[in-house]
Formats: sequence, structure tokens, C-alpha cells
Amino acid sequence: MLVTAEAKSPAEVGGELLAVPLTQLPKGELRLPARVAALDREIGGRIAAVIESGDFRGKSGQTLCLYPDGGIGIRRVLLVGLGDEAAADVEALRCVAGTAVGQAASRQAARMTLLVPALRRMRPAALARALAEGAVLGGYRFDTYRKNAKNGDDPPGEVASLALLFERAGDLREARSGAREGTILAESQNLARDLSNEPANVLPPSELARRAQKVAREVGLGCRVLGVPEMRRLGMGAILAVGQGSAHPPRLVILEHRPGGARGPARKRASAPVCVIGKGITFDSGGISIKPAQGMDEMKHDMSGAAAVVGALRACALLRIPMHVIGVIGAAENMPSGTAYRPGDIVTSMSGKTIEILNTDAEGRVVLADALHYARSNFEPRAMIDLATLTGACVVALGKWATGLFGNHEKLVDLVRKAGDATGEKAWPMPLWEDHRKAVRSEVAQLKNTSGRDAGSSTAAAFLAAFAENTPWVHLDIAGTGWTTKAAAYQPRGATGVGVRLVVEALRGLREARLD
Ligand code: BES
Ligand code: MN
Ligand code: ZN
Repeated sequence: MLVTAEAKSPAEVGGELLAVPLTQLPKGELRLPARVAALDREIGGRIAAVIESGDFRGKSGQTLCLYPDGGIGIRRVLLVGLGDEAAADVEALRCVAGTAVGQAASRQAARMTLLVPALRRMRPAALARALAEGAVLGGYRFDTYRKNAKNGDDPPGEVASLALLFERAGDLREARSGAREGTILAESQNLARDLSNEPANVLPPSELARRAQKVAREVGLGCRVLGVPEMRRLGMGAILAVGQGSAHPPRLVILEHRPGGARGPARKRASAPVCVIGKGITFDSGGISIKPAQGMDEMKHDMSGAAAVVGALRACALLRIPMHVIGVIGAAENMPSGTAYRPGDIVTSMSGKTIEILNTDAEGRVVLADALHYARSNFEPRAMIDLATLTGACVVALGKWATGLFGNHEKLVDLVRKAGDATGEKAWPMPLWEDHRKAVRSEVAQLKNTSGRDAGSSTAAAFLAAFAENTPWVHLDIAGTGWTTKAAAYQPRGATGVGVRLVVEALRGLREARLD
């Protein structure tokens, strides 16, 4: 979708649908913003009429489509509720844009425009960025395998362009840069959604690696893929154990973004990089500790952390984030078979730490043990952020409403939480105590991969903490937020791509922050 910013009237730009966001009006009150009132005069007072009728009051999520004859030369005027004026923030704008695009798509309106509301204190860049994000995210559909579907239903059209109509030409410079940024971030998130929605037969670890490589080539990231022989040489006994039951061998994928786009060792390292690490289980059957059949199909999404890493690194490159950022993905398929790892096995991780496997379904932390250690020992990062669909316990605790947030560094945890607030991806701090670290000590090895149900997401985080050691580190458990079975304003069913915008926002915060 092409999102542009213009200081023109709706009639000048044209298109097939004009979206008009309106904040909620108190009952019986008719006080339209000046621009909307002017538009209303051109279309014969229809907006005032529907508001007077009480049929449209600007409630959040409410929509009403008008069909003015003549006037502005645009067939449809879609009123979209912004909700309470005092509460109208960037998230409300994302929702409005997402809703408008959804309505335009279902009406086969390919070219649309939107009258940008004047919201208190909000800069044109922030307005445009939020609207572009909502629109591009809201226009997403996973239709790779339905393109030629002829099963009766009318597939929604695709919105090709959205022109954001600003009032003042003086705002356009800022608005255009905001629109561009929002588009890049949302397209990167859509890429993560695509990877996550792809089924496990199409996307085994090798294909996940290939797709990461392709993205790297397109946007100018460095990329290295380690296969089994290399992983053996490095002593990655943990990720190899998880992958050994599958016909599709594991991969470790490293993506690198350098400020200024310089690649290779020629450039001196200015400062320590930040590493972003993702769980990439392309399918989680549970392994020998097999999962119940009900809902097992959803475990194709168990590489959503890895998908977020690819999306975030893509955005870093296109936005030219002035930081050294490295992505590390541990990709494996967790399957039961004659070669699978078993409960009771003791494996030696790359760090040298031994792990007693008590449940083969607690595989994500085992893969991340090697990914975290690899990142730490190779790159000596100043901070690490991992994303993983790690525990069902986190879904129970926070549902789809928030990502579980853990870490060994208070300032970093705080920074990541604020980043999530800014992007509309709530991350909520959860405890990680000495008690949890003790709970994952084994009697026959250094660590065990589960200590049972109690505080399941905290003990999982404590297991990871053993491999983060003294590097400032944050763990995001996206088990509940990585995909959804309920569509929302800018979120269709399926993969959410959560974490992409949050990570980029956190990286920006980290640029200025001192972590000591
Ligand atoms: N991938 C799952 C976690 C998960 C569950 C993500 C539901 C999204 C929705 C993870 O590998 C897993 O199976 N965790 C186990 C750990 C347990 C065996 C200690 C769990 O949460 O049940
Ligand atoms: Mn599992
Ligand atoms: Zn898993």
C-alpha cells in the first residue's frame, strides 16, 4: 500500500472512498471540526444529518458509510469513530486507519483518502506514522493459498493507495517522513506475519533461513546461516538435541545491521552491538512429550519470535537506524521419532552448561540456551533482547493482552516496557527471582528444562537467565500475543507480528540510554 501525505482537498485528490475520523460527540451536540463542517457543506449536510439522527456518534470502532450524490466527486464518505477526544492517542489512530482500510477493502475501493484529524498536541509526523501503521497493518491478509479460490465467497479487494489529507502544507515534510516510517515498520511487521502464518510443511528451518537470507539481500543486511556440521563444531548440543528428531535439520541464522550500511570487517566497531534473539521452532509437536491434538496446528506459529527478529532487522536497515544490531535465530522442528531427544536425556550446551531434559515440550528454552550463548560469546553485546512463544503459563497469566516481560537489568526492562506502550504492544513486567533460578537447578546436571507448573513462565525465564549470565538482557514471552483467533481493528486472525515495532522502538531508546 502506498501511503502519501497531501495538503489538498478531497475533491482534488479523488479516489473511491474518503474516510473521515470523528471524535465522540456528547449526545445531542453537533460541533463538527471546521474542516469536516466545510466538507459537509459540499455534500449537502449529510454528516450533520446522521449525527443529528443519533445513528453515528463517533464511538471508537463505529463506522457509517454515506453516498453523497455529486459534490466532491467521491462516491463514498466513511465516518469512522475515534472515541473519546481526551483519550484519542496514537493507538486510536492506528485503529481508525485499520478499520477504514478494512471497510474500503470489503467495498472494493482501491484508492482511498483520509481527512487527518487535528488532535491535541500531536505532531504531524506522529499522526502520519500512526495512520500509516494502522492502514498497512489493517490491509494485511494471508492469502498465499487462496489467491484463486472459487468457493463462492467474494474476497475483499486490496487497497492500493491511501492519501492522508493534511490541512497545512507546512506540515507535509514532517508528515511524509512519518508516513514513510510507519509504512516501513508495518510492512516489516507484515513480513513477520507472513513467516509466522506459513505452515510448517512449507517453512522448515532451512526455508526460514532462506527467507531471512532473501530479506537480507533485499535490504542490505549481513546474513550467515549455520548448518548441523558447524553447530556440531561449536558444541551446540542443546539446539542439536531439539532438532535431532526431525527430518528437517536445525539452523542458526545470524542477521547483521551496521550503521551506515557498511559490511565486513573493514569498518571499525564503534560500540558494542545489541543482539535480538528469536525462538524459531517451525513446528512444536511437543516431541516425545507429545502435545494433545486439539489446537496443535497453532504450533506452526512457534517461530513467531524468529519472525519478529527478521522483521525488526529489516526495519533497522530500511530506516537506517544508527546502531549496530545483530539478530540471532535458533531454528528447529520439535518432532517425536526414533531419533528424537527424550525425557531423561542430559545434553551439553555450547556454554558447557549441562541440561537435564525432563519434558521435550519445553524445547524453546533449550534452543535459546545455545542462541543466547552464541550471541553473548561472539558479539559481546551491550544488551540482548529475546522474543519467544515460550510458555502456556504466560498465556494463562496475561492472555492475548500483554507480552510477558522478564530481565536481569531493571533499567533495560523499564525501557522495553515504555517502548511497548509507545507502539501499542503492551509488555508487562513479571517476576524473575532467585527462587525461580533455584527451581531450575537439576540434581544430575546443572539445569533442568522444567520444574513443573508453578510459575511456569518465570522458571522458564530463569532458565534463560543462566545463559544470559551478566549481559543486560530482556526476555519477551509472546506465547499469548504472537497470534490471535479474534480479529481486531488492524489485526486480522492469525499471526500478529508482535515485537517488530516494539524492538525497533526499544533500540531507539537504547541508543541514548546508558546501561550501568
Ligand atoms: N510453544 C510452547 C508454548 C506455547 C503454548 C506457546 C501455547 C503458545 C501457546 C512451548 O514450547 C511449550 O510447549 N511449553 C510448555 C512447557 C512445559 C512443558 C514446561 C508449556 O507451556 O506447556
Ligand atoms: Mn513446546
Ligand atoms: Zn514451543
